[in-house]
Amino acid sequence: MQPDYFPPTPSASDSEQDKHTMSQVVPTGGPNGSEPTVVAARGSPPATGAPARVTLHLGHLPGKTNISVPYPRSPSRVDPNNPPWPAFRGYHRYSFAHATMGVRLPTILGKAIDDASRTLNEQSSEDLIVDLANCLERMDQLMVDLSGNAKLRPIIDDDEADVALWNKEIAKYFQGKDFMNAPWLFAEAYKYRRLHECFSVSKYWKDYDVFYRQKCDTFSRSAEAVFELSMRFAEPFKHSENLSDAERLEADRLMFLELTQVCLWGNSTDLSLLINMTEEQIKSLQSTGGDHLAATEKNILGNHLNRLWETVKSTREKTGGRIDFVLDNAGFELYCDCVYADFLIQSGLAKEIRFHGKRYPWFVSDVTRKDWEWLLNTMVYGHLFPKATEVERESLRRLGDRWKQYEREGKWVYEQHPFWCTGYTFWELHGEAPDLFLHLSRSDLVFFKGDLNHRKLTYDCHAPASTPFDVAIGPMASAAGAPRICSLRTIKSDVVVGLGEDGDLIAKKLDDEEPGWKISGKYAVVLLSEGRPGEKVRFA
Ligand code: F6P
Ligand code: MG
Repeated sequence: MQPDYFPPTPSASDSEQDKHTMSQVVPTGGPNGSEPTVVAARGSPPATGAPARVTLHLGHLPGKTNISVPYPRSPSRVDPNNPPWPAFRGYHRYSFAHATMGVRLPTILGKAIDDASRTLNEQSSEDLIVDLANCLERMDQLMVDLSGNAKLRPIIDDDEADVALWNKEIAKYFQGKDFMNAPWLFAEAYKYRRLHECFSVSKYWKDYDVFYRQKCDTFSRSAEAVFELSMRFAEPFKHSENLSDAERLEADRLMFLELTQVCLWGNSTDLSLLINMTEEQIKSLQSTGGDHLAATEKNILGNHLNRLWETVKSTREKTGGRIDFVLDNAGFELYCDCVYADFLIQSGLAKEIRFHGKRYPWFVSDVTRKDWEWLLNTMVYGHLFPKATEVERESLRRLGDRWKQYEREGKWVYEQHPFWCTGYTFWELHGEAPDLFLHLSRSDLVFFKGDLNHRKLTYDCHAPASTPFDVAIGPMASAAGAPRICSLRTIKSDVVVGLGEDGDLIAKKLDDEEPGWKISGKYAVVLLSEGRPGEKVRFA
C-alpha cells in the first residue's frame, strides 16, 4: 500500500542546487537566533565607485568554512530557531515537508472546503447558512495564504485555551516567517490551527469538524478487522486452567506482545496520507492475525518490544499502575488502542489508563472527544455494519459495554489538554505546559502514538538514524520527573532515530533500495526511553 504522493527522490542535482546554485548555508546569525541562515550565494558585483570592502584579518581564527554547529545542541541551548539538529522545512525539496506543504495540505484543505460546502447545502435556516458561508470564506482565504506562501500571522483570539501559547511562539520565534521557511512541524500545525479558527470565530459552527464524515466512514469500512478483534476479545481475557505460574506469565507476555503490535500497526490507516482509500486497501493495512504480526515484526526497525514487556511486568509486580496514551487517530486506530488498553486492565498490567486526545480537529484523523464518544456509542448502539452477523454485532456491543463501564469506574479517563494542539514540540512540554508535564510525571508509562507525536518527541529534525531514542527526545528523557516514554509509530515522515548502532547503515541501504520507505507506513519503531528510576513524581 502506498500513500497518495511520493516526493521526488532526492537527487545529487537537487542537493547540489540547494547547496550551491541558489543559496549557501551560513552557520551563524539567523534573524531570530543562531540557526543557519540561508543567504544569496552570489551577491551582485559592487557598483563602480563603491568604497572597497574593509576586511578584518583575524589570522589565528579558523576560516569561515570550518565553522560547524555541533549537533545535537544541548537541551538548554535549544529553541525553535535553534533546533537540536537541523529542522525540516517546507522549502527542503528533498524532504516530505516539501510535498506536504506544497501538495498535501492544499489537497486536504480542498476536501475540507468540499465537506463544509456539502453541509451548507443541507441547511435550511438563513442564520446558519450565512454563518457557515462566512466560515467558507475564511477557508478560501486560508487556501490563498497557504498556496501563496503568506507570512504567518497571529491567531485571532477566539477564546481557545491555546491562543496565548500560539501567539507567544509566533511573536518570539516566527515573526516574518512564512509557510515554507518556518519549521515544517510548526507550519503544518499552524495550518490546522488556522482551519479551526475559520469555525471557532463563528456563531453557530464553533465545533464543526470538517473531517468527521471521513473519520466515521473509514471505521465503517473496516468491518473485517473490527470483527476479527471483537470476536477474539469480547470474552474477557483469562488463562486456561491448570497452568503453572510460569506458563501464565508466558501467556501474558505473548498476548502483550501481540496486542502491542496490533496497537502499533493500527497507526498505518491515517487519513491524511491515504486519501480516498478503497476497502481492499484498508483491509490490507488492517490484518491483525498472529501470523501476520510475526511477519511484520521484522519491519520494526527500532524494536524495544522486549524491554517494554519487562517494564510493564515489573510495574505490575510493584503496584500495578497508571498507563497513559497520547492518542493519535480516531476510528480504527483508536479501536486498536482500546483493545490493547482493555488487555492492560484485565491482565493487571495497569490499574488506570488515561487517554489524551485533541480539543478540536487536528491533522485530519486525530481523536477528539466527539470521536471518542462516537466510537464507544456506535459499538453499543450503532447500525454501522449491516452485513455483520448477529454474533459479530453482539461481540462489538460487549466490548463497547465493557469499555464504557471502565469509564464509569474511573479505570479509563479521557482528557484533552490545550498543549496537544499547539506547534510546540515535546522538548518544550515541561517549559510551556508544566501542569501537563507534572501530570504525566505521575504515570508509570506514557505511550505516544503515531507519526506526528514522534515528530514532536524528536523535534522533527534531521538527526542520524543511529541517534539513541533518549538523546533524540531530550528533556522528555532527561528532565527530572520525566516519565517512561514509549513511541509506537509507523514511519510516515523524514525523521528516523533509534535504529541502533548500525542505524545509519540501515537507513542508507533503505534510501538506496526502497525510496519512499520513510513515508510508506510499511516500517515502524517501538522505542522506549530509559526512564529515571526513583524520580517519578508521587503525590497523595
Ligand atoms: O503530514 C505530516 C504527518 O506527520 C505525516 O508524516 C503523517 O502522515 C501525518 O502527518 C500524521 O500521521 P499520524 O496520524 O501517524 O500522526
Ligand atoms: Mg494523526
